[in-house]
Amino acid sequence: MDTVDMLPEVPSSFWMYSTETTNYPQLNEDLKVDIAIVGGGIVGITTAYLLKQAGVSVAVLDADRILQGTTAHTTSKLTSQHAIIYAKIKKQMGEELARLYAEANQYAIDMVEKIMQEKSIQCDFVRLPAYTYTQSDQYVGQIEDEIDTARSLGIEASFQKELPLPFPVKAAMRFENQAQFHCLKFLKELARDIPGQGSHIFEQTKAVNIQEGNPLTVVTEPGHQIKANQIVIASHFPFFDGGGFYFSRIYLERSYVVAATIKEEFPEAHFISAEDPGRSLRYTPSKYGRLVLFGGEHHKTGHGTDTNKHYKNLLDFANQHYQIDKIYYRWSTHDCVTIDGVPYVGNLTARSPNIYVATGFGKWGMSNGIASAKILSDLIITGDNPWAQVYSPSRFITSGSALKTFVGINISVAEKYITGKLEPGDTDKNIEKGEARVIDIDGHRIGAYRDAQGTLHMVDTTCTHLGCELAWNDAEKSWDCPCHGSRFTYEGEIVEGPAINKLQHVKGEPNEVEARIFS
Ligand code: FES
Repeated sequence: MDTVDMLPEVPSSFWMYSTETTNYPQLNEDLKVDIAIVGGGIVGITTAYLLKQAGVSVAVLDADRILQGTTAHTTSKLTSQHAIIYAKIKKQMGEELARLYAEANQYAIDMVEKIMQEKSIQCDFVRLPAYTYTQSDQYVGQIEDEIDTARSLGIEASFQKELPLPFPVKAAMRFENQAQFHCLKFLKELARDIPGQGSHIFEQTKAVNIQEGNPLTVVTEPGHQIKANQIVIASHFPFFDGGGFYFSRIYLERSYVVAATIKEEFPEAHFISAEDPGRSLRYTPSKYGRLVLFGGEHHKTGHGTDTNKHYKNLLDFANQHYQIDKIYYRWSTHDCVTIDGVPYVGNLTARSPNIYVATGFGKWGMSNGIASAKILSDLIITGDNPWAQVYSPSRFITSGSALKTFVGINISVAEKYITGKLEPGDTDKNIEKGEARVIDIDGHRIGAYRDAQGTLHMVDTTCTHLGCELAWNDAEKSWDCPCHGSRFTYEGEIVEGPAINKLQHVKGEPNEVEARIFS
């Protein structure tokens, strides 16, 4: 049997599967609150929780259900060890800002533990060590540097040559007192405390615009408005740019997880490799016993259509080193990555004192997400936070590597925009069940997917955000944008923004569609 046949047919997240789906109401009237928060992920929910605790009224808006986006598709590690990052921040921004980044992320672990204890939340929180390892001589020096830098910032870090893993490593870095938890068990409990006393959570309420003024206004797709003194944009990729040019300084990366029970004992620790292809390992308790999450295989969103091969590579890695009992889940996620690797958290622009943003967590959205909620709630309530400087979205980038990344992002977007328009569509319009292709209909590029029942679904493959051409994602059956990561179902509905308009979708065969769309 091909290893890929061992995978569950449909992607699903263990975190979502092991918690109840929420059922908050849709916004059905105009409203006024102190703070409107767009996005019901880890940042939106935690910020709302902290603000409500501080005595202000909040409204959280989510286009779908809360806690179903990137937050639900993480590996849910809670750590200040972000592979190799401190040496990079120190070089780019200086030692003091590297120290602030370390403090913010350490604080986030302690904050989760404190809230969990105060509220008696059962969320599988456990303290354990975190390791970054390498199997390549090339990374040994970087790991040694990172350990020295981390120690100089006050982190308890040590060098290791042996790990409790079934393969040899050249070097590893161990951080003490890190953690892991079940993010949705924790966050769904925080969400319960938000509605009431003038505060709300609204689901299936898509924010489509912000009108500046005093107060500010969030315009939603059901047609109702929320007026607020301040707005937090916590929508993963910011749905509103406001002149911040986020589309030119964030890129999207997709990565994958396979969750399986294994015959061996898995150690009390979590692990990540320093080199590519990335490999991440942790366990979580589940009703099936200990599930091991094998993660990694990151690549730019929308670059390459054979996304199934990434699951296969993870499965091959797992099979090579462990005796797999059963694979229960597989899922993928995509992360916003900034040009210098540090998230953007704070005022959306220098000219928007009442609009805040939190985005660009790379693959470290748990600790950075909690830290962001603390930063934003402090800035809103007191106007100050000790870590705000390192996360400032308005920071000026001077380092050569960050500038190179900035240029690379924008060249890549321009290339994808232009080559996407020039690539000819397929003239063969016979599409098999389960197959997707970009076909040419009267000079127009149309994305066509035939589902298992034989129905053909066709969409215009021009991304409704800024016009790049979409690519097919075979593992998730979606059309993905290579420029800023918007994703659409094969029927054209939005899976993830920044796009706020769906694709034109028409059922039928190509000749009928031709008559309907282009007549
Ligand atoms: Fe920006 Fe598609 S997400 S052009």
